[in-house]
Amino acid sequence: MLKIAIQKSGRLYEDSIRLLKECGIELNNGNKQLKAVAFNFPLEVYFLRDDDIPQYVYDGVADIGIVGENVLLEKTKDIDLVYRLGFGRCRLSIAVPKAMQYESLDDLRGLKIATTYSTILQEYLSQKQVNAEIHEISGSVEIAPGIGLADAICDLVSSGSTLFTNGLKEVEVILRSEAVLTANKNLSEEKKQVLDKLLLRINAVKTAKNNKYILLNAPNHQLKNIFSLLPGMKSPTVVPLAEAGWSSVQSVVNENDFWEVIEKLKQYEAQGIIVIPIEKMIV
Ligand code: PRP
Ligand code: ZN
Repeated sequence: MLKIAIQKSGRLYEDSIRLLKECGIELNNGNKQLKAVAFNFPLEVYFLRDDDIPQYVYDGVADIGIVGENVLLEKTKDIDLVYRLGFGRCRLSIAVPKAMQYESLDDLRGLKIATTYSTILQEYLSQKQVNAEIHEISGSVEIAPGIGLADAICDLVSSGSTLFTNGLKEVEVILRSEAVLTANKNLSEEKKQVLDKLLLRINAVKTAKNNKYILLNAPNHQLKNIFSLLPGMKSPTVVPLAEAGWSSVQSVVNENDFWEVIEKLKQYEAQGIIVIPIEKMIV
């Protein structure tokens, strides 16, 4: 049985649960339980505060955990980063009151900056040789300037709405972060095998999201050009149409160059292009 820790509420909660679901793992969690057991995969899920997850994984209370890379960097625990999950993208930034004149890092000298990320902030300020006072607090950082607790803050920014509603503006980006899967360094052989199974599934889900299945009709004299655009998993599938001189082509296309490929396909006389999402993809 592998034990995974995920955030109990907050930015990563929903996406973490969704990922497990897309991996075919079903949980019998009544709302707001501390623990849930999967009934079709050897996995036990612990719902914890994200800031505590690195410690729990380090101690082996949980074997693996889903956490923001920012938290991992702040807590500097000796645990492995096994997989970048690609969701929960955000940045750790310094923000100041909207009315403050801000030109450069120099303007932070002598100011008091409130944060829950004192390790990362300290390192950043030292590296930039900015002498400012770090005021470590454990939450609700965004209200610190408004109540006179600090002059500036250093906190996570995702949509930016928290800053906006608190009359703050982002002035420096310290690092960019996303959700990652971490693991204890001393997993038993048995647990490693379960982790490998889980990773195979996560990878299949993620690869599928990055690709689309595409079907189209094309005149045979253009097939070579079209194959060069759509190499597919091994090579494209080609089926002759009832109409002489035409074929149906099936392949996969990467999300990133999707529109560019579509435009070129049209130049190569492709017609009846159909694009379908892929649920799982094992390469
Ligand atoms: C972060 C941060 C802000 C919010 C920013 O909290 O502390 O409150 O997200 O997001 P926005 O730019 O979209 O408004 P997080 O979800 O990490 O929870 P935590 O600080 O309680 O761990
Ligand atoms: Zn947190």
